[in-house]
Amino acid sequence: MDAVIENDSEFAEIPTMPEDVFTAPLKRPAHVGEDWLEPKQTEYDSEDDAIWNDLFARQMEILPGRAASAFMEGLDRLDLGTGGVPDFGDLSEALDKLTGWSVVPVPMLIPDHIFFWHLANRRFPAGNFIRTRETFDYIQEPDVFHDVFGHVPMLTNPVFADYMQEYGRAGFRAMEHNRLKALGALYWYTVEFGLVQEEAGLRAYGAGILSGPTEAVFSVEAKSPNRIMLNVDRVMRTDYVISDLQPTYFVIESFEDLYRKTVERDFERLYKSLSPSFTYANSAVIDVDNVVNVGTQEYLLRGGRGSGARPV
Ligand SMILES: [Fe+2]
Repeated sequence: MDAVIENDSEFAEIPTMPEDVFTAPLKRPAHVGEDWLEPKQTEYDSEDDAIWNDLFARQMEILPGRAASAFMEGLDRLDLGTGGVPDFGDLSEALDKLTGWSVVPVPMLIPDHIFFWHLANRRFPAGNFIRTRETFDYIQEPDVFHDVFGHVPMLTNPVFADYMQEYGRAGFRAMEHNRLKALGALYWYTVEFGLVQEEAGLRAYGAGILSGPTEAVFSVEAKSPNRIMLNVDRVMRTDYVISDLQPTYFVIESFEDLYRKTVERDFERLYKSLSPSFTYANSAVIDVDNVVNVGTQEYLLRGGRGSGARPV
C-alpha cells in the first residue's frame, strides 16, 4: 500500500508499547492507538460482502497456475472464501497461530512511519473500506480486498513474514538516511509486484498482481514486460509506475533468496551510494541485469491504460 507523511510533529513519536501488545489480535484493544489506527473495523453490509465474494471468485478462476504456491497455500490455511469481508479479529487469531502476525484496520492513507511501525511489530495495516461495483475492475487506492486477499496469504509463509517485519524496521533506517524512495521501490518490486521462479515456471507473489485479474495473467504470460532476476542495488535505483501494468518485473529464486539478498544486506552502505532520485527508467534493461526475458513493451508503446492497448 502507499503511505504519505501527513506533516506535523504530533505523529512524529512512535508510540512505545509493551512487547506483548504487538502481536495481539484486534479484539484485544490494548494495541489500538489513538492515531492512525481505526478504532474498529467498518461494518460491511450484504452488498459489500457480495462484492468481496465476487472478487474472490473471479481471482480463483485466474490464480491457479499463476500465483506462487506459497500464496495458494496461505489461502488454503485462512478462511477468506465466501463469507464476505473477513473479520479482522478472527483473521488475526488464525494468522497469529501461524506466524505471529495480525491485521489492523487503517484509513486509506497513513504516514510512512506508522506504516513501518505496524510492520516492524508484525501487524499488517489493511484498508477499512471496499470498492464499489463501479470500481470493481480497477481501483488505485488499496481497499480491503487488495490488502487482505492480496497481502495476507503471504504472511502465513514464515520466511516472507519475517521479511515483512524486517522491511518495517528498515523503513525507519531509510527515513534517517533520506532514502525512503529507494526502499519504496524495493517494496514495490517485491511485496507488490514480485515474481518467483518455481519449478513449474514463473509465478506471482506480489499483492498488486494477485488482487486483480489483468496483471495476474500479464505478469507471468505476456510478451510486453521485461522479467529480470532481483538485484537489490538495481531495484532501489529503478523508477516504477503506480497507475498501470508494470513494464518490468523482478524475479526471486525463493523467499529465502529474497530474505538473504535484502535483510542480510548492509543497507547503510548502499544508501550512501544511492542518488536521491531514480537512475533507471521502469522499462530499462541494463548491462548488469540477469535477464529472464526482454519484453517487447508492446502494451506500453501502444499507450498503456486508457488507450485500448491489449495487455499482451
Ligand atoms: Fe499493497
